[in-house]
Order: sequence, then C-alpha cells, then structure tokens
Amino acid sequence: MNLKPETFSKIDQLIPRYPEKRSAVLPLLHLIQEERGWISNEAIEWVADKLELQPINVYEVVTFYPMFKQKPGGRYAIKVCRTLSCALGGAYKTCKSFQEALGCEVDGTSEDALASIEFVECHANCGKAPVVMIDEQMYEGVDENAARKLVEAMRAGEIKPARED
Ligand code: FES
Repeated sequence: MNLKPETFSKIDQLIPRYPEKRSAVLPLLHLIQEERGWISNEAIEWVADKLELQPINVYEVVTFYPMFKQKPGGRYAIKVCRTLSCALGGAYKTCKSFQEALGCEVDGTSEDALASIEFVECHANCGKAPVVMIDEQMYEGVDENAARKLVEAMRAGEIKPARED
C-alpha cells in the first residue's frame, strides 16, 4: 500500500487508541481516502490485514457509507449543494453548467479526469446560495456563468487541487 510516511504514522498512532483494533476501521478508511481520493480493493485488503479483519468486513463498511468512493474521481471534486435555498437559488442550473463545461453527468468524472461532479446536501452557508465546494474550498453565489469560469480556472491550474497525484 502506497501512502505518505505521515499517513502511515497517523495510522500507527490511531490504532492503539481503540480498545479493539477493529474499531479503527472508519478513521483508517477516512485517512486513506483523504490521501488517495478513493478506496481501492488493495486498500480494503491492507486495512483488513492491519486490523486483523477479513477483507469482506472492511468491504461491507466501504459499501455501507456513501461517503466512501469505490472508484477514482477527477483531480477536483465539485460538490453542488441542492438543498432548499440553493435549489431555489439555481443550483440545478449551476450543476448543468458544470456538466456542460466538463462533458459529464452528476456522479461522473470528465473524460480528461479533470473533475467529478456530485450533488450534496447543505454546506451550511444557505444565505449565499447557490453554494459549491471544490475540494475543501467553498464558493458562494455560483451561478451558471461562475460555474463555467470555475471550470476554466481548474483547467488553467488556477485552483490548487486538494490531492497531488
Ligand atoms: S441550502 Fe445550500 S448551503 Fe444550505
């Protein structure tokens, strides 16, 4: 399993904090996804081995929680809020604009692997609708035009991606 040394060290510090190794499965998966962007079969087997579990036990956790991604996404993760304020403020049009600019659907990744798009629920900034997160950065009042400009900025490398691949 290829991870940064600091991630290995976080993992080694985390496991003894739990009375049973198996209880560390969720935080371990979060750390791996934070670094790699998704949870591969290799990661599932590695976590199982580390926590003395069967791979199926880890696989069940990964498939149960929707926040775990089972395939690689784009370099940037675009999360468009579709809860009430944002929906009323035009989030669906914003999302359509991202889809057109990237040539992919919601829950999909652009062919050039630049970005993935998903709908999410409230980003807790409802007064600034429509709100979009790109990786960990929040963007407010993102209308169709702003969405197109954000895609251009991603293409130009003007937005720093959360992961260095
Ligand atoms: S409804 Fe979109 S941020 Fe709350």
